[in-house]
Amino acid sequence: MTRKNIVILTGAGISAESGISTFRDTGGLWENHRLEDVATPEGFEADPHLVHRFYNARRAQLHEVAPNAAHFALAALERAWEGRGDFLLVTQNVDDLHERAGSRRLLHMHGELRRLRCTMCEETHPHAQDAGLELACPACGRAGTMRPDIVWFGEIPYHMDEIGAALGEADIFCAIGTSGLVYPAAGFAAEAVHNRRGCELFEINPNPTGVEVYDHVIAAPATHGMAELLRLLGVED
Ligand code: APR
Repeated sequence: MTRKNIVILTGAGISAESGISTFRDTGGLWENHRLEDVATPEGFEADPHLVHRFYNARRAQLHEVAPNAAHFALAALERAWEGRGDFLLVTQNVDDLHERAGSRRLLHMHGELRRLRCTMCEETHPHAQDAGLELACPACGRAGTMRPDIVWFGEIPYHMDEIGAALGEADIFCAIGTSGLVYPAAGFAAEAVHNRRGCELFEINPNPTGVEVYDHVIAAPATHGMAELLRLLGVED
């Protein structure tokens, strides 16, 4: 069987059925917060307490939510793909639902709610509780320097070299639950389609983005769309 490399990109939509708000749907996070205030370095500089409160609330919610069938189906796809080619799951999400569902080959390009970063020494650390400026950096010991380890607007996402290399070798690319509005993730489908491997592209979204490079558009919520994706990939559900 010919090896086929697969890259999956997920966005907030895959966690919606777990009860985590998306950003741009009705009632989404950006309806209730000015992203300039809570998702930019300037916002953190201006009011670090507000920003820590925003992420503390989102981090605390992780104790109340669980992975849904789409997260589990992606972990099952990763296991089923063993020996069939390379598998990489890239998520824009900062929740831990993919890990908790069993995904392993996973990159958080926008960081993780359950990590903090020191603004002085740049070291990052796991942190599952509330955070604030009272914390001291476990690495350099300075106090008042810890920020959420989240990639904010205007900052460079994590793992871009590894993601670019995987997109260059992808035979299959699937975007699940993303509005495709925020770069660089919004450009991954175009990168894949021009990689000269004849990459086949899939989208799973109840409100398809209309981006024309997708060969297969599964207009369904992720928990339903994943069964169709597995069928199209010839993987038993
Ligand atoms: N299943 C699949 N997709 C869904 C579901 C669902 N059950 N419910 C909603 N969606 C889709 C919506 O149609 C929308 O296209 O999920 C998408 C969510 O879009 P956004 O809220 O824009 O989230 P996302 O694409 O992840 O945003 C990208 O923007 O604000 C930044 O850093 C933030 O990582 C985020 C980035």
